[in-house]
Amino acid sequence: MAEDLVKIEGTRAEKYTSLYPQIQSLLAGETDKYANLANIAAAVHEVFSFFWVGFYLTKENQLVLGPFQGPVACTRIPFHKGVCGHAYTTKETVLVPDVEVFPGHIACASASKSEIVLPAIVNDEVVLVFDLDSDQLADFTEVDQQGLEKIIELIEESWTSWV
Ligand code: SME
Repeated sequence: MAEDLVKIEGTRAEKYTSLYPQIQSLLAGETDKYANLANIAAAVHEVFSFFWVGFYLTKENQLVLGPFQGPVACTRIPFHKGVCGHAYTTKETVLVPDVEVFPGHIACASASKSEIVLPAIVNDEVVLVFDLDSDQLADFTEVDQQGLEKIIELIEESWTSWV
């Protein structure tokens, strides 16, 4: 595994394209799920400098904080609460241009202005959600959704072989 990301530049779409194979090589040969999720969060955070990038894992009938980069965050989220809970219950990506107008948004940090949350689904169950927060309004678009969904697919494909 390379220790550094190869320099990633260009438009946001180009950055996702360059990042994807580097995430593949970060995951190659490693089966520890926390190690892999930690490196994914770090890589995405390093490239895009989003305010908060991390995972909540389905555990004990709720979403529990996993590997992340950014300020400290809420540790446990009920399945029906917040943007993360909405992604969990709908099994769909949730794109929130302005968190202030999303009913039930959980404000872990007041600096967070927009958010995208993507569920990873394995055997029809949501095993985790990938949550990204920005301190800019409407920072996430379909470009992010497409780039991040490809990363989610990597997690879904590998999940049952991770421990
Ligand atoms: N805002 C999220 C909670 C998690 S933090 O943003 C890290 C939500 O509404 O589900």
